[in-house]
Amino acid sequence: MAAAIVDAEYLKEIEKARRDLRALISSKNCAPIMLRLAWHDAGTYDATTKTGGPDGSIRNEVEYKHAANSGLTIAIDLCEEIKARHPKITYADLYQLAGVVAVEVTGGPTVDFVPGRKDSSSSPEEGRLPDAKQGPSHLRDVFYRMGLADKDIVALSGGHTLGRAHPDRSGFDGPWTKEPLKFDNSYFVELIKEDSEGLLKLPTDRALVEDSQFRPYVELYAKDGEAFL
Ligand code: HEM
Repeated sequence: MAAAIVDAEYLKEIEKARRDLRALISSKNCAPIMLRLAWHDAGTYDATTKTGGPDGSIRNEVEYKHAANSGLTIAIDLCEEIKARHPKITYADLYQLAGVVAVEVTGGPTVDFVPGRKDSSSSPEEGRLPDAKQGPSHLRDVFYRMGLADKDIVALSGGHTLGRAHPDRSGFDGPWTKEPLKFDNSYFVELIKEDSEGLLKLPTDRALVEDSQFRPYVELYAKDGEAFL
């Protein structure tokens, strides 16, 4: 599919879709899974081959059936309601906008949104998203492939301030924080503390405190919520 032509009319549609997403996400309390959708569409990016990335391809059956994407059809289907009302907007833009709005309505920062992403009908091979059972070197392999750095790995992991794991999706269970619908630095506050009953730490979350290069960022974001935002 061609790139979206970002003219005045497209920008107007984006603003309308943004309002519809705010209403949808607030009424369904679905900010966490919308953020996970945005991340999983984007997180396949390979900076060397310039393949994958936020191109709406997660809506293809072959991709939403990747094990890492378990459960995400819920978010894909919710986005269809918005797409039906704003057909001009590409899926690629819509999914990222849903992530931006999810962060905003839960109390997070306003994230700059630059529209104009192209949709792709081809999906990357399975295995580009991180595996929660692995450690620091795996995280670096995956995020460096996207062109990101250690600080980005830690900050982005703070997305786990929202939501929870579901046994029937990932096999893990529970939220990372006591208020999983509030976007703040509590993921990092919990991460540097002893384990709390009922709260989850994935092996990849623990990796952030165990690795000497990651840990200073965890400490900074736990101490200084504004630095994280
Ligand atoms: C660092 C590597 C990461 C790993 C290994 C990882 C792994 C996971 C796993 C296993 C789940 C549970 C899925 C379920 O059972 O429903 C999850 C949920 C989630 N992840 Fe991540 N994740 C990572 C990074 C990120 C990033 C970068 C973001 C966003 C910036 C993010 C946002 C979320 C959100 C919001 C949920 C909750 C979804 C819900 O409540 O339905 N994750 N992640």
